[in-house]
Amino acid sequence: MTDVLLTESRRTDPAIWWRQAAVYQIYPRSFADANGDGLGDLPGIVSRADYLAELGIDAVWLSPFYPSALADGGYDVADYRDVDPRIGTLEDFDRMVAALHERGIRVIVDIVPNHSSNLHPWFQEALAAGRGSAARERYIFREGAGENGEQPPTDWGAAFGGSAWERVEDGQWYLHSFATEQPDFNWDHPEVREDFLTTLRFWSDRGVDGFRIDVAHMLTKDLTEPLPSRAELEGLPHDGNHPLSDRDDVHEIYAEWRRVFNEYDPPRTGVAEAWVSSPERRARYASAEGLGQAFNFDLLVADFDAEQFRTIIADNLAQSAASGSSTTWVLSNHDVTRHATRYGLPALEGKPEKQGVEWVRAGGPADWVDRERGLRRARAASLLLLALPGSAYLYQGEELGLQEVAQIPADQRQDPAFFRGGEFDGFGRDGCRVPIPWTSTGSSFGFGSGPAHLPQPEWFAEYAVDVESSDPASTLSLYREALRLRRVLQTEEQLEWVETGRADVVRFARPNGWNVVTNFGTEPFDLGADAASVVLGTVDGGAVPGESTVWIAPSGILGH
Ligand code: NOJ
Repeated sequence: MTDVLLTESRRTDPAIWWRQAAVYQIYPRSFADANGDGLGDLPGIVSRADYLAELGIDAVWLSPFYPSALADGGYDVADYRDVDPRIGTLEDFDRMVAALHERGIRVIVDIVPNHSSNLHPWFQEALAAGRGSAARERYIFREGAGENGEQPPTDWGAAFGGSAWERVEDGQWYLHSFATEQPDFNWDHPEVREDFLTTLRFWSDRGVDGFRIDVAHMLTKDLTEPLPSRAELEGLPHDGNHPLSDRDDVHEIYAEWRRVFNEYDPPRTGVAEAWVSSPERRARYASAEGLGQAFNFDLLVADFDAEQFRTIIADNLAQSAASGSSTTWVLSNHDVTRHATRYGLPALEGKPEKQGVEWVRAGGPADWVDRERGLRRARAASLLLLALPGSAYLYQGEELGLQEVAQIPADQRQDPAFFRGGEFDGFGRDGCRVPIPWTSTGSSFGFGSGPAHLPQPEWFAEYAVDVESSDPASTLSLYREALRLRRVLQTEEQLEWVETGRADVVRFARPNGWNVVTNFGTEPFDLGADAASVVLGTVDGGAVPGESTVWIAPSGILGH
């Protein structure tokens, strides 16, 4: 019982709750639509607050809900301190925070500091004020190359395709690392720095518990002339001095943010989305003097493979132990093909995420994906992830075992990445952003009273919350039970690997006696006497079936 109480206080301690949290990502426009306009909204989240509580998560992370022209699903923010009127009002936001807090669920919001929307008043002011103006200094404007400045300043590419520079009416060019509608801020500018501190305080004052920082590694840039070419950039090491990415000086910003977080009681927290070259470099974002935590995407890009999982887990736990942070785990989010689909695809060239991409790009041919196998493996991987030390970030719909929707007609797609080429060329990310099914019948499967903003396929009915809620064998029931047990079993303590005699079977033990066995292979794995202590997952004839996970816990620890 002492163990249980200790664990409970670690989870609920307001200063460190995030270290071992299960965080559920809500993509607000696709979660629940209360006013029937086809877009999810904040009152919709309130209407599903009981669902979230019953699921057993510790916090939600909301993707952007700010005023936006939706050039990039809301990651083009026109006003950092307001709510998109199609999604609600600030009063709705307060009501949502209150409804979630009442249920013991904390709230993390997305901060997008690398770029604003081109409709942000500062950018509009910069356009109007013209070259050489103070207003242009807040962004990154340059003269073009070529005789009349008709060429972009460099040949750099934007992540969503095309040049990273766009020319404005008076002939100058501005830098946009993502869509044209997302001009990059100049983080050397004191007003930019100050304004984000104001934004952090604004949401903290409204009761927000933490922040997810979009492309946290890209804010500071060394744009000393002459600017390097694309080829030169690619040849430069990512050692903290790269002109565009993961520069050491970005941490000065997060140190300042930390001071703001610590003005609050309990201190606010941060999690960095930082695509950097190594766990060591990632750890800098997660330091106690910085944001506190950083996403670890290593499992998200791994195969469903025992050796890869073992190595990734060991490396990241070692790194987090060395840095004093707690690691994070992610299998799905709003940017990648859902893992229940990724894991059901045949081995194509490259990594599994690449497989998902290739499949979507090819129009999602049904005969490429084995949905049953994908779901079986996804359940196994999710149970493993939920048993690891550190925070687990879950993406809305994965608790239903929801599959990617690849068959979205081009004229109904929204993701700029689908249309513009670039690294997301021709696949886009709409397929994981389709509004989730709440009921097996009815308009937009219970998402709202009208059609959803992205088309939902008929097979969504099978994954609906009402169907899965009443089925003890459903993925939803499995997640609920896993999250319930995790609240009791999760501790800060690290794991120890247990030899299984099989390369395709991973087993680890936590100091409180919690054991986890994942069979990545297809041959059953005999559990011996431990079969009697399985508290989650299926055992068949005393063995762990292929592609599945079981949790074992000594009697007594669960308090019954
Ligand atoms: C990362 C976000 O997750 C993604 O959705 C967005 O397109 C880019 N950052 C640009 O903001």
